[in-house]
Amino acid sequence: MKHLLKMLDLSKEEIIDILNLADQLKYELKHSIPHPHLKGKSLGMIFQKASTRTRVSFETGMYQLGGYPLFLSSSDLQIGRGEPVQDTARVLSRYIDGIMIRTFEQKEVEDLAEYGNIPVINGLTDFAHPCQVLADLMTIREFKGSFDGLKMCYIGDGNNMANSLITGGLKVGMTVSCASPENYRPAKEVLDFAAESDCFTLTSDPKEAAQNADILITDVWASMGQEGESEQRRMAFKGYQINDEIMALANKDALVMHCLPAHREEEITSKVFEEHAKEIFEEAENRLHAQKAVMVKLMG
Ligand code: CP
Ligand code: NVA
Repeated sequence: MKHLLKMLDLSKEEIIDILNLADQLKYELKHSIPHPHLKGKSLGMIFQKASTRTRVSFETGMYQLGGYPLFLSSSDLQIGRGEPVQDTARVLSRYIDGIMIRTFEQKEVEDLAEYGNIPVINGLTDFAHPCQVLADLMTIREFKGSFDGLKMCYIGDGNNMANSLITGGLKVGMTVSCASPENYRPAKEVLDFAAESDCFTLTSDPKEAAQNADILITDVWASMGQEGESEQRRMAFKGYQINDEIMALANKDALVMHCLPAHREEEITSKVFEEHAKEIFEEAENRLHAQKAVMVKLMG
């Protein structure tokens, strides 16, 4: 594994390896055992979109690993003034040891990886959010003990989260259901991958998808960059909400997860959110541990 660009690129073994290391790093942190695997290394973090979790967890994680994180806002970089990503990649490769990038187009992340010669980590694109899904898988295994026999259900926009969850969920051996409105389905290459499995179902009906689910996951109706479509999306996604009615169809001890930020009373009710705050905030914490594992694997 040279980069973390999207879940489609990872094998089951690579995912499990990252999760095992993440569990170990979490244990070491909780027990104040130093783990300076990246001493003397630097990570450049390019952000073309806002972030709370990704920025703070990468920055702190790099510090805990003995390395140095550089926050690079695109408005300060020459990228923001049109310098091609291909050139940025070749320049940064000469200064630092890894790049984390949050941007719009997946192609930009793939180009960074192709033109540079240091590991590139996708910190969210319109297509994928692999760091989040590794943390989600870590959380599921932590709460449920294993992935065996579990059904994961995603309700909502067929966005970066849906694309990555479907791929990651199927790769680790879960059954996956997805409920999205017809015009807001996951990406074709993800649906093509999922079609090879008999453990995947896609529907427009959230109730059908939620039947006997062990994990229910949702995400915002309008992602970053789609603010202008908010009104239209509010109408399209009405009913695509995790609420008591949906919870009643899932298995009794079902987990509810959300990558955050959450829009209460849109994709999830406040009541369900607060009842499941335990796993939702463990999931947020696990971003730190999962990403540290990714950095050690790629840059260690
Ligand atoms: N879930 C997530 O990526 O959060 P941020 O946008 O705050 O980084
Ligand atoms: N789908 C959301 C996820 C945010 C972490 C977005 O892209 O804005």
